[in-house]
Amino acid sequence: MLFFKKKIIPLNKLFPEGFVDIHSHLLPEIDDGSKNIEESIRLIKNFRSFGIKNITTTPHILGSFWPNTPEIINEKLDLVRKELIHQNITDIQLNAAAEYMLDEKFMRLLYDKNLLTLKDNYILIELSYINPPENIFNIIFDIQANGYKPILAHPERYLFYHYKFEKYKKLKDAGCYFQLNLLSLVGYYGSEVNKTAIQLLKNNLIDFLGSDVHNHSHLQHLNRLGSSKNVSLLKPILENNFIFKK
Ligand SMILES: [Fe+2]
Repeated sequence: MLFFKKKIIPLNKLFPEGFVDIHSHLLPEIDDGSKNIEESIRLIKNFRSFGIKNITTTPHILGSFWPNTPEIINEKLDLVRKELIHQNITDIQLNAAAEYMLDEKFMRLLYDKNLLTLKDNYILIELSYINPPENIFNIIFDIQANGYKPILAHPERYLFYHYKFEKYKKLKDAGCYFQLNLLSLVGYYGSEVNKTAIQLLKNNLIDFLGSDVHNHSHLQHLNRLGSSKNVSLLKPILENNFIFKK
């Protein structure tokens, strides 16, 4: 009996020129992502080998746990940009925004209109993995009323919505955009998350894509992304990320 190895398309053939990764944790020592400047540069070089040269990285802003501010984030961004130039890496467009947990602190920043945007007032938001905020639809409304466009990071990772698929549709109807984690398609977060990721894609509920890379291991897992099934699921929306190019 013959066994055929499933063909995996290399990532630099999958991502179109101009693709912007809008979710990652590549700035050193300010969240659970990169641990130092060397790691930041190594991760960015790896993105480049995947054909991704436009990156808007998104450190967590989460209560007193990760109390990042635009000043802290921009200072680290500057540091990494300088090191890229120092190492003669000039073909990477590195920018920064944030991944906002929908907590009390977020609401204060929202009312002060002091949020870091991906571009054109799009902001990346996340929820607790345990419970969604009870008033999530009011929060979405408030975000929009203050002039921002919410993108929910990795909707497929919220297990509490898996058996309430109609909630996803309700969130979309409320004007919330969805960003899928590419790692969900290689089974990194388990088979349930993988299944929901595919279901969301098949129902045309995903607007944008992100890697959510925190470390080298994530990048290694991403290498398996280019199966023909994943490629056909991703192809129709890969270019949506072009709008974030700066
Ligand atoms: Fe993240």
